[in-house]
Amino acid sequence: MGLGKKERKSLITRVVNVSEQSGEKRMEIYTEMGQLIRDGGLVAFPTETVYGLGANAMDETASARIYEAKGRPSDNPLIAHIADRCQLDMLTETVSEKAKRLMDAFWPGPLTLIFQKTTQVPYGTTGGLDTVAVRMPNHPVALALIRAAKVPIAAPSANLSGRPSPVQADHVYTDLAGRIDVILDGGETDIGIESTIVDVTGECPMILRPGYITRQMLEEVVGEVALDPFLLTKAEGNVRPKAPGMAYRHYAPKAPLAVVQGEQQAVVDIITQLVQKDIASGKKVGIICTDETRMQYHEGEIKSIGTRMKEESIAHNLYRILREFDEVEVSQIYSESFGGTGLGNSIMNRLLKAAGHEVIDATCKK
Ligand code: TXA
Ligand code: MG
Repeated sequence: MGLGKKERKSLITRVVNVSEQSGEKRMEIYTEMGQLIRDGGLVAFPTETVYGLGANAMDETASARIYEAKGRPSDNPLIAHIADRCQLDMLTETVSEKAKRLMDAFWPGPLTLIFQKTTQVPYGTTGGLDTVAVRMPNHPVALALIRAAKVPIAAPSANLSGRPSPVQADHVYTDLAGRIDVILDGGETDIGIESTIVDVTGECPMILRPGYITRQMLEEVVGEVALDPFLLTKAEGNVRPKAPGMAYRHYAPKAPLAVVQGEQQAVVDIITQLVQKDIASGKKVGIICTDETRMQYHEGEIKSIGTRMKEESIAHNLYRILREFDEVEVSQIYSESFGGTGLGNSIMNRLLKAAGHEVIDATCKK
């Protein structure tokens, strides 16, 4: 767009509610937004997971604007979003049988695949790597925008680097107003946590970031799936994640967050004690609990994240609740923990990152 560094920070960010428009007007908007992407502009848009901050994935200068707007480290690569399988050809020439099976099963949807990149994909989009991350999102606004742009759209989550991913257009506005050209408002996102990332460059597919699509769901389609060894560590020591972004503190609310682990009643008791102590010392404290335990807490800013009977609801509410605690300006947050092998594991992965791995063991404390 030829804008200088200074000007970029004082852009006027337009918010366009696409779903409110009539069919014809909507087409006009997509045509205009597609052109804006081809011209190097930044357009935030909803996907079924979280909002993305989009730019032309094939244009190094456009990708560079994403890093600048988010304050993102330049070694953290971007995901290229496509709307049709044929767009994959310009991104990679090596698609294994297993990768095809995964695409057949889960695209469009919350699955990102890592391939060897073609020379056409700029290193500015892949953070200097020879591989490229690709995803076909399952959201009508995202798909219409990519089709109108006629190029793959590089899109990280549309938050300032380190902040919780946005699940509503106003979250994007809070973080990025004045830094990006347009926000396409398509309402709340459905899933609420980011896509599962699977590296399909080797013989055995490997999960680099857990998400809505679980290891079990993947294994039903392609047999054995490995886990990046980094996911089994406490993000300490020398084990580096294969997805560079997993190394950064992330998804963090402004107040420190501690996750309390253990048997349910012990967790409620410990959180209650900690909250009482903090309140006595003059602090405003937040609690993230579940529908199952909500009535057992009586003090502090108490928010139920959903029911353990339906982990989808917990994933859906997680980032919104982390952001709500910023608004009520608590100085400490305690959360119950989640786990298991399915979606609970992906929720726990995000919570632990938001907490900077601050874990309190309720069993030891009793
Ligand atoms: O659901 C999602 O995936 C959302 C929506 C907008 O599609 N996007 C998203 O993007 O979460 P972002 O940038 O917040 O996270 C992308 C992750 C980072 O951890 C990055 O390091 C990793 O993907 N990644 C991207 N390209 C990679 C590559 N070539 N090899 C390994 N990891 C890669
Ligand atoms: Mg992100």
